[in-house]
Amino acid sequence: MADLRQEIDRVARTDAKVLITGESGTGKEVVARQVYALGNRFGRPFVAVNCAGLPETLLESELFGHVRGSFTGAYRDKPGKLEVADEGTIFLDEIGEMTLRMQGLLLRFLETGEIQKVGADRTGSRVDVRTVAATNRDLRQMIAQGQFREDLFYRLNVIHLMVPALRERREDIPALAEHFMGRLSGRAEAGGARTIARDAIDLLSNYHWPGNVRELQNVIERMVVRARGEVIGAEEVPHEVRAAQKTGVPPQRERRRTVADDLYERITNERQSFWTTVYPLFMQREITRSAVRDVVRRGLQDARGNYKIVARMFNMEGEDYKRFLNFLRKHHCQPSFKEFR
Ligand SMILES: Nc1ncnc2c1ncn2[C@@H]1O[C@H](COP(=O)(O)OP(=O)(O)OP(=O)(O)O)[C@@H](O)[C@H]1O
Ligand SMILES: [Mg+2]
Repeated sequence: MADLRQEIDRVARTDAKVLITGESGTGKEVVARQVYALGNRFGRPFVAVNCAGLPETLLESELFGHVRGSFTGAYRDKPGKLEVADEGTIFLDEIGEMTLRMQGLLLRFLETGEIQKVGADRTGSRVDVRTVAATNRDLRQMIAQGQFREDLFYRLNVIHLMVPALRERREDIPALAEHFMGRLSGRAEAGGARTIARDAIDLLSNYHWPGNVRELQNVIERMVVRARGEVIGAEEVPHEVRAAQKTGVPPQRERRRTVADDLYERITNERQSFWTTVYPLFMQREITRSAVRDVVRRGLQDARGNYKIVARMFNMEGEDYKRFLNFLRKHHCQPSFKEFR
């Protein structure tokens, strides 16, 4: 997460459009607000629109506004959120849920900055907003399936921030747990609980968190409410978190195919090279460091921990072995060695 934090800091100072992706509950909205809070438009409006929550016509009016009489119930002119956000930031949440028609309207706005209200016969005012969009969907896949406009995708995706799943940054779990504890422990319903014991933290750190930070927050809340003493112990960790530990791996239904699985298959089955598959995607920030690490980890498992064999399995030339190791070292993509002894 240290990387992401730096990246947010850098990105916030620019005025570029940002697309935030990540699984549900990873903190995309938190990131969007940080981009705003650290940027030059701080102090100007930050207006969030959930593109999933509303039927198309209402979303259109929500974004662009409407004129009086344009539909039943439109008793007066109403400004849209884009207008309200003028000079500030518009946060388009769940952008992947927009219909194709809405995508077209949004694209037209992004190209011209002009707002056409529902029911108005000509375009109205121009506004100047920074757009930050977020989604948990795979927009590239949606493009391939004709569900998302490619031109809109490239417009929104000037800077891409990926928020990793919580299980890919377990090192953040203790601090997050403490943070949520701190926020709750002052409240009346919290009883007297103040801290979490080490073994309880360990259980939390080992769980796979399909619901990510939101799930962690809920679990802490439940533990705090039920706690009997000042210290929350391992026995107070909810059953599903403890149950997942014994098997070590997440239950089958929760294990989804990952990018790393796909890449590993392309390398091993289709005999493509690491340099033409994983490397360019990583350098263009299309995949995370942890995905690279997962690919390498799978290689190491099959090669019993021998990097030379991995290099060969990854279809590299003999002399590329050093370059491979340097790459992994430089970008911190080496899986922990303990796993392969
Ligand atoms: N770094 C963090 N520090 C504190 N709280 C966090 C952090 N990241 C996420 N949260 C909390 O976790 C919850 C989920 O975060 P958020 O709503 O930003 O996720 P999301 O990625 O937008 O999820 P969804 O895809 O379901 O909309 C929120 O309650 C948020 O406050
Ligand atoms: Mg969200």
